[in-house]
Amino acid sequence: MRQKIVAGNWKMNKTLEEGLTLTSELTNMAGDEVRSGVQVVLCTPFIHLAAVGKLIKSYSHFALGAQNCHQQVSGAYTGEISAPMLQSIGVNYVILGHSERRQYFNEGNDLLRQKVDQVLAHGMRPIFCCGETLEQREQGIHLDFVTNQLSESLFHLDNEAIGRVVIAYEPIWAIGTGKTASTAQAQEMHALLRKHLAGKYGQVANSISILYGGSVNAGNAKELFACPDVDGGLVGGASLKSREFTDIIKSI
Ligand code: PGA
Repeated sequence: MRQKIVAGNWKMNKTLEEGLTLTSELTNMAGDEVRSGVQVVLCTPFIHLAAVGKLIKSYSHFALGAQNCHQQVSGAYTGEISAPMLQSIGVNYVILGHSERRQYFNEGNDLLRQKVDQVLAHGMRPIFCCGETLEQREQGIHLDFVTNQLSESLFHLDNEAIGRVVIAYEPIWAIGTGKTASTAQAQEMHALLRKHLAGKYGQVANSISILYGGSVNAGNAKELFACPDVDGGLVGGASLKSREFTDIIKSI
């Protein structure tokens, strides 16, 4: 069975104190009741990671996630954070290729391939984001565009390495807009991505978790998560509210 994952992407939100309050509320509300097998990942700003990590340490279904990392191991890259640094404070997952990073920080498929390698080389799991713009969808090129994102950044990996990658399909037009993909749109893309992975990796594709992201909330999570190829969610805005994020976790 594929691992079910609900990841919260805090983006650039929450002071340290607010982040710790949110974390405590989440472990209180979702600490014991979460069905076993569901992994909850808190992707916090870099400077909160160590402290949030301490709070979730005794909750085995909670894991720690970063939102980015640099493609080099170390060196003169002022202001950057490397994969070994993240590994050293107990980070389990790293979001890579979020559309905001692609758009505002010019991250392309080649750079992301290097970042994927760094994260895997340091024992962590990438949450690799892909997704199309509204314009691309309207032009009918969205399926090719998204499968190409996977091919260019992931298809150099071997079977063992790809098995450690989590994929998040996030249509850009659905991120932070309140517009969610329909279950049919989500299932169509997820099934296609799995088929694309199977074309290269065979049976391994069936073990890869593919998350949906883009305006997931407590009202729509259940039906999205019920799609056969949707293995959980990457949640932005709704992950900042403990009650709502708990409801989303519980709807899987
Ligand atoms: P959203 O963000 O849930 O606020 O749409 C999702 C994401 O960007 O990961």
